[in-house]
Amino acid sequence: MLVALSGTPGTGKSTVSALLQKEGYNIVNLNELAINRGFVTGIDTERHSKIIDIDGLNDYINDHYKTKDIVFIDGHASHLLRTADKVILLRCHPNKLKSRLEKKGWNKEKIKENVEAETIDVILCETVELHPEENIFEIDATNKNIKSVLSSIIEVVKSNFEPTKKYKIGKIDWSEEVLNDF
Ligand SMILES: Nc1ncnc2c1ncn2[C@@H]1O[C@H](COP(=O)(O)OP(=O)(O)O)[C@@H](O)[C@H]1O
Ligand SMILES: [Mg+2]
Repeated sequence: MLVALSGTPGTGKSTVSALLQKEGYNIVNLNELAINRGFVTGIDTERHSKIIDIDGLNDYINDHYKTKDIVFIDGHASHLLRTADKVILLRCHPNKLKSRLEKKGWNKEKIKENVEAETIDVILCETVELHPEENIFEIDATNKNIKSVLSSIIEVVKSNFEPTKKYKIGKIDWSEEVLNDF
């Protein structure tokens, strides 16, 4: 079973993936896989980011990683993989996300782009276009330490991905932050 672990950069995907790995789960880092297997097709010079062949990656992952066991795919494009059976989205309040990305030393432009994307639910919107609602789980990591984020993910797994109110999509709303730009 393939579980896409997505969310705006800075929401904690890679940090929690390391903990999931310690718990014995298999993790694939989408970015690393794209680089190592030749699915980077170019560079977006304006945004200083890699352009990846998501359909090619989708087929590769489908052929090589789709098993009975759970495999988490860590990456902010993992929700774009059609072969993903479930999608877990990490969310973080824009103000907190901003300070996390500042700490990481990212440039202003890139921080703004990502904080805005989180504010207007870009990844969630892309996810609902590709996956049925009952397969999507949203975890608000704003006031959770990373162990607590881990516990939430494990809770979803242990419930066999049973849809629950707790992680139902659409409850998170950062829209009041949009006005702060004016
Ligand atoms: N729940 C959390 N509480 C506090 N700090 C966190 C949490 N999740 C992530 N961080 C910190 O935020 C930064 C970005 O986390 P990272 O796992 O690299 O995000 P992503 O992989 O989603 O881009 C790191 O410095 C990490 O230590
Ligand atoms: Mg990461």
